Amino acid sequence: MLFAYLETYGCQMNSADSDMLSGLLQSRGYEIVESADDADLVVVNTCSVRQHAEDKAKGRIAEFSGRKKRHPGQQIWVVGCMAERMGDELKKELPLIDLVIGAQTMERMPELIDGLLADQIHGDMNESRPRSGISAFLPIMRGCDNFCTYCIVPHVRGREHSIPVSQLVDSAKKLIDGGTMEITLLGQNVNSYLDETTGFPELLCKLHDLDGLKRLRFTTSHPKDLSDNLIAAFADLPKLSRHLHLPVQSGSSAVLDAMNRKYTREHYLGLIDKVRKAVPDIDITTDVMVGFPGETDDDYNATVELFRRVRFTTAFMFAYSPREGTPAAKFTTQVDEAVKKARLSKLIEVQTAITKEHYASMIGKTISVLFTERQSRKTGSFIGFSDHFKKVAVKSDVNLSGRIENVKIISTTGMTLSGEIV
Ligand code: SAH
Ligand code: SF4
Ligand code: F3S
Repeated sequence: MLFAYLETYGCQMNSADSDMLSGLLQSRGYEIVESADDADLVVVNTCSVRQHAEDKAKGRIAEFSGRKKRHPGQQIWVVGCMAERMGDELKKELPLIDLVIGAQTMERMPELIDGLLADQIHGDMNESRPRSGISAFLPIMRGCDNFCTYCIVPHVRGREHSIPVSQLVDSAKKLIDGGTMEITLLGQNVNSYLDETTGFPELLCKLHDLDGLKRLRFTTSHPKDLSDNLIAAFADLPKLSRHLHLPVQSGSSAVLDAMNRKYTREHYLGLIDKVRKAVPDIDITTDVMVGFPGETDDDYNATVELFRRVRFTTAFMFAYSPREGTPAAKFTTQVDEAVKKARLSKLIEVQTAITKEHYASMIGKTISVLFTERQSRKTGSFIGFSDHFKKVAVKSDVNLSGRIENVKIISTTGMTLSGEIV
């Protein structure tokens, strides 16, 4: 028996790639383990979106390299976006890496894996595919053509391409047959999905109608392409989760222009109004960046003001990190690190208070929850998600995984709701 350990950084696209790679390794006789200690193969799936993400992965690879000295047979593979950006240059920095596989090559892993494992293959190669999780990711498109001036993704993931509808329907059916109840469709900009005449709203309808599927989610939407048809889909498709992740990036039109986002603050606020009119109780979440080159106090305050006005359920908040090879990294108006930090912590404070209020307002309500996993045997809690976006914990002696139950919310801690089944 061979053991493999995978560690994943970055976005859900990377998680989906790691799930795919785990499945391939399992069907070739590997057992996936929770610790690198005894693994024959250690895979680090990397992200390049911010400097911090790269530093963290490099630190971990260095740790694994240290361990490898004691386990000489161990293989270290570095895959994903940093592998794509740096290629074999990474091996110069971290010489105990055995293999570097870039994000764009990851898409071809099913064809490549047997060659890569060469004589290490054990077990029955025709063994059935691994069981899919209750909740699974399904990439519907890869790459990105938007070239926001700060972003490395189009450089590492390459040009945007949509996966054919027939292939997606097939993959979704296989997931459902394997026990998946909830599918999250992934793309850097799902609204620009196009396969011949099938756009994103039509794709949603097709997948929505598959027997056995209980819930459908998607991420991410670019505000410049959010269509009225998609907004209508929320009202028309009952399995579609009432959650929209709509990254705003900045509340200042001048900064949005410098970012090449192709929409204004007013357009974004108009979209929020439209979405809330169509689906009043929808959870809206966002990504935002502070300290983009040239961001003035007024620009920043416009972002804070937008956050107070929109009242997102939650937000991913970042300080701008210059990425080599992107236009913004060369802008001469870089913001001081200390200023970025101060702006970020104040915005986090504002949003945290709003998030708390959103969660507190759920107390006493009864919501439908799909349970995906057991949190820990000790506490006996099961974790699930509301058909919006919120995480819910329920104590139970019986296994709740894979069940949809109505839960009355009793309390909240941080970003988890706790309740009991009614
Ligand atoms: N395709 C998605 C974003 C993918 S990257 C979209 O367009 O919304 C995820 C998030 O990382 C972005 O939304 C942005 O907020 C953040 N990000 C991207 N590049 C960054 C950089 N150079 N510095 C800091 N944050 C960045
Ligand atoms: Fe990056 Fe912009 Fe593409 Fe999102 S849309 S991945 S932020 S370039
Ligand atoms: Fe995702 Fe990071 Fe790559 S955000 S696409 S893993 S650079």
